[in-house]
Amino acid sequence: MCGIIGYIGQKNSTPFLIEGLKKLEYRGYDSAGLCVLKNKKLYTLKKKGKIAELEKDQRLKNISGLIGIAHTRWATHGEPNERNAHPHFDCHKNIAIAHNGIIENHTALKKILTKEGHRIISQTDSEIFAHLIEKFYQGNLEKAVSQTLKLVDGSYGLVVIHQQENKIIAARKGSPLIIGVGQNEMLVASDTAALLAHTKKVIYLDDEEMAIISKDKYSIKNLDGQRLNKQIEEIKWTVAQMEKKGFKHFMLKEIFEQPQSVTETIRGRIKNNKIKISIGFNLESIERIIITACGTSWHAALIGKYLLEQLAQIPTEVDYASEFRYRQPLIRKNNLMIAISQSGETADTLAALREAKKNQAKTLGIINVVGSTISREVDSGIYLYAGPEIGVASTKAFTSQVSALILLSLYLRQKQNLPLDKKILVDLKKIPEKIKEVLQVDRQIKKIAFAFKDARNFLYLGRGINFPVALEGALKLKEISYIHAEGYPAAEMKHGPIALIDSQMPVVFIAPKNALSSKIISNMQEVKARAGKIIAVTDYPDKEIKKVAEYIIKVPSINNYLSPIINSIPLQLLAYHIADLKNINVDKPRNLAKSVTVE
Ligand code: M6R
Repeated sequence: MCGIIGYIGQKNSTPFLIEGLKKLEYRGYDSAGLCVLKNKKLYTLKKKGKIAELEKDQRLKNISGLIGIAHTRWATHGEPNERNAHPHFDCHKNIAIAHNGIIENHTALKKILTKEGHRIISQTDSEIFAHLIEKFYQGNLEKAVSQTLKLVDGSYGLVVIHQQENKIIAARKGSPLIIGVGQNEMLVASDTAALLAHTKKVIYLDDEEMAIISKDKYSIKNLDGQRLNKQIEEIKWTVAQMEKKGFKHFMLKEIFEQPQSVTETIRGRIKNNKIKISIGFNLESIERIIITACGTSWHAALIGKYLLEQLAQIPTEVDYASEFRYRQPLIRKNNLMIAISQSGETADTLAALREAKKNQAKTLGIINVVGSTISREVDSGIYLYAGPEIGVASTKAFTSQVSALILLSLYLRQKQNLPLDKKILVDLKKIPEKIKEVLQVDRQIKKIAFAFKDARNFLYLGRGINFPVALEGALKLKEISYIHAEGYPAAEMKHGPIALIDSQMPVVFIAPKNALSSKIISNMQEVKARAGKIIAVTDYPDKEIKKVAEYIIKVPSINNYLSPIINSIPLQLLAYHIADLKNINVDKPRNLAKSVTVE
């Protein structure tokens, strides 16, 4: 989704802006632009398409200056083209703005501004900011921005420059902005990825806060101009973690990082056969859990429901965040809301969390990005420590989310003094080794991918705790290969999807050895009887499965509660290899954004 980078210092800002934009590329975008201030004049360049288009343009060489802002746009209001690309300007081109988020009352504001003579040239809601600031500007940019922000409904991560002022004004509401504190230079970005190469010292802006940034100082204020004391924090991620390290794609690297990322999630959290996680509030009174999330994180949440109900014995519901926030959910004081999000910035998840907080539920985050908005708004949290996930398709974050949910469920069980089979802890510690083992199926999966790369549809079927794994397998394939895929509980197939099965339909079964094994074999037979092509992911390739399956992907055996971690990995690889064989840009699939910060 849209990205912002700004620079103010003693060096030419253009290379910083271009490099920063490249670091934000993974978030997804369809146009890019920058604006640099030199000798009290603004110079700008905008392009539809990739950042490479900006770099190719000869005019970029003539753009230099010590202050600049830049933006990658993921179209919401108006198609991706140069006119709609940011930065946007006021009528006299004195002011340049870059904006992430959505101005909800932009139609009304546009009407007023147009009546007053402002010429709004783009189809975006964002351009309104430049004109409002122009309207209020009387020699003080900070004041004009704060007056503007008071009129705007909606969300913003906003950076503003004015040709008469050597400063950047940044402001945030519902869309992240982070100030990077350097040596005689300051940066501002919507994502720490764009700051890391220059500084690890950062200040996270909170909602309705403004930063007034010059090359060697900054102040943070609320919209009424009162100064706020904000702490400088340190980013723990390294630049090296953000590199591909010889892998063809970030996604593949992240799939292969899972032994390490899951190790980091469980590290230090199992001691002397006890789960040690610190939750900053009393869990004893919790009578009901609601998990909210989107996309892949929602699939982790569904697995969490099985874990929390079966291991912790606490009634648990799972809700799409986008549905939860508007359906007037019944939330009580003794309810715990768990918000799961890799990025910690997903707008719907954040809104659902706020809804729960409004109703006085306790809130807990399962988040990867340290310092992200959700991580700062929850009462307590479990960080994943999975490291940066750059590929748009979430992989290692998912297995870490499931690992964190296992830890939480066992912890809640322990808290209630319910008996615990220690074998699960033994298996949990073995998980990184088992992941290494399952990654060895990569070669075989490449062959399977070759056989099915031209399929038009796929079905993924699983049961029990592995039903959400089927959903996740289907989502991965859709996202990066553009092949239509559906996930279903295996038994549900005969209530409709069975009509789709013929010799052109590959059906992936997640079929671990457990109490439901014989039932899933019956489901396989139903598919075989209709000439469907079965790919079985299983830890017990017995003769019944061999009889019906075209391909068997053998995975290591593990405790059933942990099996979603192992079983999801071959599905990630299958999606990856099919997409790669189709020459799709796996890390940046069309229309998708890494972190969805608008509704
Ligand atoms: O950052 P989050 O975990 O909150 O993101 C939620 C979804 O947008 C995300 O999982 C999305 O579905 C991914 N593209 C899945 O691969």
